Amino acid sequence: MNERTTALVTGANKGIGYEIAAGLGALGWGVGVGARDDRRREAAVEKLRAAGVDAFGVPLDVTDDASTTAAARLVEERAGRLDVLVNNAAVAGGTPQEPTLVDPDTVRTVVETNVIGVIRVTNAMMPLLRRSASPRIVNMSSSVGSLARQSGADAERTAGPVAVAYSPSKTFLNAVTLQYARELSGTGILINAACPGYVATDLNGFRGVRTPAQGAAIAITLATLPDDGPTGRFFDDAGVVPW
Ligand SMILES: NC(=O)c1ccc[n+]([C@@H]2O[C@H](COP(=O)([O-])OP(=O)(O)OC[C@H]3O[C@@H](n4cnc5c(N)ncnc54)[C@H](OP(=O)(O)O)[C@@H]3O)[C@@H](O)[C@H]2O)c1
Repeated sequence: MNERTTALVTGANKGIGYEIAAGLGALGWGVGVGARDDRRREAAVEKLRAAGVDAFGVPLDVTDDASTTAAARLVEERAGRLDVLVNNAAVAGGTPQEPTLVDPDTVRTVVETNVIGVIRVTNAMMPLLRRSASPRIVNMSSSVGSLARQSGADAERTAGPVAVAYSPSKTFLNAVTLQYARELSGTGILINAACPGYVATDLNGFRGVRTPAQGAAIAITLATLPDDGPTGRFFDDAGVVPW
């Protein structure tokens, strides 16, 4: 069993996921760079290693059972357990996402990645997480999934544009996070949802106003919670985000 704290970040080849990997690596942790594309994954691993991070590549497509099972096996061989899982990988789904115009396949694809993918990866990693003294799971959500904000008077500003696939996928993910927190209550496994703010990445055509490193900060905070930290909550840099 590796004595070093080990984390796995899904979708870590770019954007916020890359910066989460860099931030956790800067703590001296071993960091699995989960990514589906070989070339992009290896480039990210090389860049992280050049920055002094103990990074290792984990081939991982979160929509694929065999890929996810193989990823768990790789982490087990490398570290013997998993201390922190950051479910960061997601897709926006493209356009149109007006409810009356959307292609149902768009909704299916987004939910498959952003929700089912999280369940698939979390459950594959669960035996390894249970071997950790302080397991933490962080689900990268978004305030656009907040029903409170979607239904507020200022929804366009606080909850983004109308998007019937992406926004509800994060609402669904928040609900899933709560279900895990309820089941895992008392086990020491802390699981929370995080909103990174509006970050300039591929996901939004780089229209966001925050840097990926700023977006990564809340995930790093939740990945390093003390044993008496919260579980089943939804946070951004400013504090609790309403469901
Ligand atoms: N950017 C924002 O303003 C913002 C706001 C709120 C929440 N978030 C959330 O923050 C997280 C990171 O987003 P980001 O902005 O950094 O987006 P991004 O730059 O587009 O990165 C998304 C990552 O997910 C990966 N991914 C997508 N589908 C995958 C799959 N099936 N298997 C494995 N990896 C997959 C992508 O890999 P490829 O390179 O192979 O496509 C990429 O590494 C997401 O959960 C997103 O919903 C972002």
